[in-house]
Amino acid sequence: MPLVRASAAPNLALSKYWGKRPGGAANLPVADSLSVTLNAFRTTVELRAARQDLILWAPAAGGPTAPLPDRLLPPYTRVLAAARRDWDLPPGLEATFLPTLEPAQGLAGSAAAFAAFAAALTILGGRSLSHPEDLRRASILARLGSGSACRSLHGGFVRWQRGELSDGSDSFAIPLPPVLPDLALLVVLLAPGRKATSSTEGMLRSAATSRLFPWWIDRCNQDCDAIQAALQANDFATLGHHAEANALALHAVCLASTPPLLYATPDTLRVFQLAADLRAQGLPVYVTLDAGPNPVLLHLPPARARLHSELGALFPQAPLLDLWPGDGARHEPR
Ligand code: DP6
Repeated sequence: MPLVRASAAPNLALSKYWGKRPGGAANLPVADSLSVTLNAFRTTVELRAARQDLILWAPAAGGPTAPLPDRLLPPYTRVLAAARRDWDLPPGLEATFLPTLEPAQGLAGSAAAFAAFAAALTILGGRSLSHPEDLRRASILARLGSGSACRSLHGGFVRWQRGELSDGSDSFAIPLPPVLPDLALLVVLLAPGRKATSSTEGMLRSAATSRLFPWWIDRCNQDCDAIQAALQANDFATLGHHAEANALALHAVCLASTPPLLYATPDTLRVFQLAADLRAQGLPVYVTLDAGPNPVLLHLPPARARLHSELGALFPQAPLLDLWPGDGARHEPR
């Protein structure tokens, strides 16, 4: 029986994290970001005492676990080392990751994994996910694994404040009040599979080479403020407008990098056009896009049936995933 089980879900950024402060591997961002945690595709982590540290992953469809290849270990080792500095943990730990989604589907499975890992270590350290101070620490731990993971500790809408301190102690995610209960998200899986350039690599390239990068940093802080204000006002249209503009700005930064980062496909752009056409007809629909080809349509219930019929006709082969805002990291029964 494991010592601890914990789970967490992926999150989708409405104003994106794209750019780290120079130096170090602590995933300290250049700007704030703001996300919504999803109601599906949770990853569960089980921790067991072991002779030495071991990271195991199971395939999403179940089946036997396998050790993570050495080249992928550094972020896990970073999280473990930081947790051991804070808390009295067993000298050897076996962590088993049980995802419900293949990482290659590009829905930020690593955010769910590192958030669940940080949550499990926090609980094993004798802390509780219901204490804000412990959650803050867990968010920092998750960030060391993958930046966007720090937002998945919380459910609903979440803002990652970039912080200023070089030790990263003020760079963590903060939950925002629950609003817009009707918000729905429709993922169009145009091209499942691993993206050509990872987010980690892509954002380093943009920071180093894209002339638009200084503009992007200002833009993100403004978009986060505008989206947070829209949330406070329960104003879906303003939220959607800023989220879509932020995603397009991210891809402008990517296209202006050297060599260019081209994540969108012609089909991706057709989805942006569809959303614009539907908005012109009065339907509440906006699009966001991470560093990959699969758009996500932010919408309200009156648009759902129409979206399904239009997308089904345009892309009969593409799976459509209906998602909603969901919960943060959880302590699961053993
Ligand atoms: C486009 O969090 O995966 O999804 O910190 O290097 O692990 P690392 O990057 P990661 O980047 C996410 C990029 C994004 C935008 C976002 O989720 O904010």
